[in-house]
Amino acid sequence: MLGSEEMTQIFAHRGYSASFAENTMSAFIGAEKAGADGLELDVQLTRDGEIVVIHDEKVDRTTNGHGFIKDLTYKEIRKLNANKNGGKKESIPSLIEVFEWLKTNNLLCNIEMKNGLFPYEGMEEKVIELVRKYNLTDRIIFSSFNHYSIVHCYRIAPDIETAPLFLEAIYMPWVYSQSIRAKGIHPKHSTIPDHIITTTIQNGVAVRPYTVNREADLKRLFKLNCTAVITDNPIKAIKIKKTI
Ligand code: G3P
Ligand code: CA
Repeated sequence: MLGSEEMTQIFAHRGYSASFAENTMSAFIGAEKAGADGLELDVQLTRDGEIVVIHDEKVDRTTNGHGFIKDLTYKEIRKLNANKNGGKKESIPSLIEVFEWLKTNNLLCNIEMKNGLFPYEGMEEKVIELVRKYNLTDRIIFSSFNHYSIVHCYRIAPDIETAPLFLEAIYMPWVYSQSIRAKGIHPKHSTIPDHIITTTIQNGVAVRPYTVNREADLKRLFKLNCTAVITDNPIKAIKIKKTI
């Protein structure tokens, strides 16, 4: 299980998204420089079958473009600026670009399959093929709100860790995660009480709550020795961790 050592790991949510445009190479590089242990990023599939790193199904919120990823080609997507708020232009990264860079460091990488709205048939296979090509199997965790996708990932790549995402509290999450062979759970931090975090970890299941940005919430999880926190601000989290 990734992250079973003593200290709570810090995963940068969409990269260091508190200071950089989310899900961009600058945000990922910024997270590494900040000292994060890992990244969290979101993947979707273009019309011509490229895996791209972007949170929404549409490019509208985070870029200067319009439309669904599934209707745009990779070439069209690369022309867009993912740093709408000024500063240097940022392209929407391909997963290949991120993996090329991951080969230069030791960061862990939580890949969230954004296939809840559109099933993106074949996306899991494509992502797994790339993970294998870049020899990253022991540094990747697949997560998704689409638990059918999580099970599919496990079936085709049982050696790569999976973790279902939860928006709501569920009963005995360690039992559920073990039943789908997931080595971890990624709950919304405000929905999981202390004793459930502790019992889940005691049952050998990693707990990585998201998206933890407030000091009090970070402190709670560090004190519990939670497996990891997923945060927009790794610098802040590291600073607070040092005080515990
Ligand atoms: O993986 C944790 C978190 O990223 C899930 O929610 O909407 O930020 O992708 P969202
Ligand atoms: Ca995400």
